[in-house]
Amino acid sequence: MQKEAPTKEHLLVELERVRQKIAELEAVQTERKRARKALGQSDSLHKAYRWLEKCVERITTQLAAANEALQAEVAERLQTDAALCQIERRSPNASEREPEGERMEEPEQHFRHLVENIREVFWVSDLNNQRLIYVSPAYEQIWGRSCQSLYQDRMSFLDTVHHDDRKHVAVIFERQARGECTEEEYRIVRPDGSVRWIRDRGFPIKDGSGGVYRIAGIAEDITGYREAEEALRRGEEQFRTLVESMDDIVFTLDREQRHIGLFGQWLEKYGLRPEQFLGKTVREVLGDKLAPVHEVAIGRALAGERAVYEWSIDSPQGTIWIQTSLSPIRDSDGKITGVVGVGRDVTERKQAEEALRQSEEQLRQSQKMEAIGRLAGGVAHDFNNMLTVINGYSDLLISRLAPLDPIRKDVEEIRRAGERASHLTRQLLAFSRRHAFQPEVLNLNAVITNMDKMLRRLIGEDIDLVIFTDPGLGRIKADPGQIEQVIMNLVVNARDAMPDGGKLTIETTNVEIHQEQARQLADIQPGSYVMLTVTDTGCGMDEKTKSHIFEPFFTTKEPGKGTGLGLSTVYGIVKQSGGAISVDSRLNQGTIFKIYLPRVDEAIESLKPGATRAEPTQGLE
Ligand SMILES: Nc1ncnc2c1ncn2[C@@H]1O[C@H](COP(=O)(O)OP(=O)(O)OP(=O)(O)O)[C@@H](O)[C@H]1O
Ligand SMILES: [Mg+2]
Repeated sequence: MQKEAPTKEHLLVELERVRQKIAELEAVQTERKRARKALGQSDSLHKAYRWLEKCVERITTQLAAANEALQAEVAERLQTDAALCQIERRSPNASEREPEGERMEEPEQHFRHLVENIREVFWVSDLNNQRLIYVSPAYEQIWGRSCQSLYQDRMSFLDTVHHDDRKHVAVIFERQARGECTEEEYRIVRPDGSVRWIRDRGFPIKDGSGGVYRIAGIAEDITGYREAEEALRRGEEQFRTLVESMDDIVFTLDREQRHIGLFGQWLEKYGLRPEQFLGKTVREVLGDKLAPVHEVAIGRALAGERAVYEWSIDSPQGTIWIQTSLSPIRDSDGKITGVVGVGRDVTERKQAEEALRQSEEQLRQSQKMEAIGRLAGGVAHDFNNMLTVINGYSDLLISRLAPLDPIRKDVEEIRRAGERASHLTRQLLAFSRRHAFQPEVLNLNAVITNMDKMLRRLIGEDIDLVIFTDPGLGRIKADPGQIEQVIMNLVVNARDAMPDGGKLTIETTNVEIHQEQARQLADIQPGSYVMLTVTDTGCGMDEKTKSHIFEPFFTTKEPGKGTGLGLSTVYGIVKQSGGAISVDSRLNQGTIFKIYLPRVDEAIESLKPGATRAEPTQGLE
């Protein structure tokens, strides 16, 4: 058990006892001097006297030291008491006890100077009669009320407390009365109505026997901190609300590229949780294949740059494009401690960009085809007129020559060449849509079925021809001869793409073309169409070839093998029929041509079975 410190009273009693002892000893010493004189020269007595003298000397030294220590302790106690008494004297309740003009002791002066100049309110109250013994002047600054009001009625303090916090403060009083140390925050209302936040700490003062007889405390105005805290909390809340309502994802990384923070509802959209990222490096999250691009960018951000880049990741929903921007995070010394990043799903923008690029390409392509068509059409038209003259006069000449006339053969050669030239110009005219066009309401399935035998003969035995016709297929309005020519040209091209055999599929079906598809197909209106698909498993085309195939005279075939007019004719016919054509091809895998022809509601007037078969372009040189 700890030994209790002696109280002032004890020390004073002790001091008095020591003083008496000294007085007694002094008396003994005087007695001794007198006895020595009386005893004179007796030897044994002299020895006894020497021994006694030494004992007295030793005890005197010990007592003097004890006396000195006690004197010091008493002086110290007296000083502390004086300081407290001075505080008590300062309080108006005790003012009558204060002797006027008394010079203050130095420690007391320091103490008073201190409590009267601190920003905090220092207060002392008596536990027994609830009287306020002292409150420092800072009270008037913070509370905007006089100290006097509190001295008069300590409990009036509760009136200064914010209505909502009064119960709380009453509980604090009770706890303090029980001798508890308290540290609580509450609001007060100043006379001008302004509200201040106070942090109040109270602690018991105990007397010598350990009983609490006073409570002292320090109250400080923490409104500034509370406001700053509140502003910070609001700021954080706003940040969180903002981030969580954004489609973006916000993340932070430390210098080791580990995720230390992650926010954003975007995560939820893709079924991701922050735990899948937190504490992990970018490489651990995204894997070795994707990591390098990020690591380079993070490295740049850690070096103080801002890095913005786009990347993609495959997901069950398709390819997701993300734009990431990274910036360095700096501490108050400007040292870079990590990276903050914002990831934005830019898939839609990317898709729109791609669609725009495609439709621009389409537009460029159709403008190009338009220009070529006008040029080719003009030339073909003039040629056709001249060929009509050449062929007409050739016929006339042949009819006038006798069958065995030596020049008849030469004229017949001219006639045949003229015929081939006419065929070419007809194709050019078809491409430039200047061909005579005799549209009829047709069932595309019937056209294909009629051609079935001829097509099989055309492609040979190595190629497997499969035809799927949609029994519910809608009708189209087109020139049946031209449609046959379209099918024929596509089939011949497919055959040429599969010299070693393969599979050729012709398919018909109804389709609805929506705004977006219509835009991609260029120049057609959204609506109901009949789609003809011709698919082969042949050599396919590279992008460069694909971009030229509809141009007249573009061919990859050997000289003399192809004119390069087949697809330009198809293109012209499809356009003339109000349709569209698309091609999808992979090198060494095959090609798919899709032809869209507008569906019509009109009834079929007449379908001429075996209608004019268009000749395939192949073999016309
Ligand atoms: N199904 C296909 N597979 C691979 N390439 C094709 C296919 N269809 C067309 N092509 C390419 O398109 C080019 C142009 O075709 P197009 O039909 O216009 O002319 P051609 O077949 O070369 O000659 P022509 O048809 O006048 O005899 C072809 O030379 C070929 O390179
Ligand atoms: Mg061809």
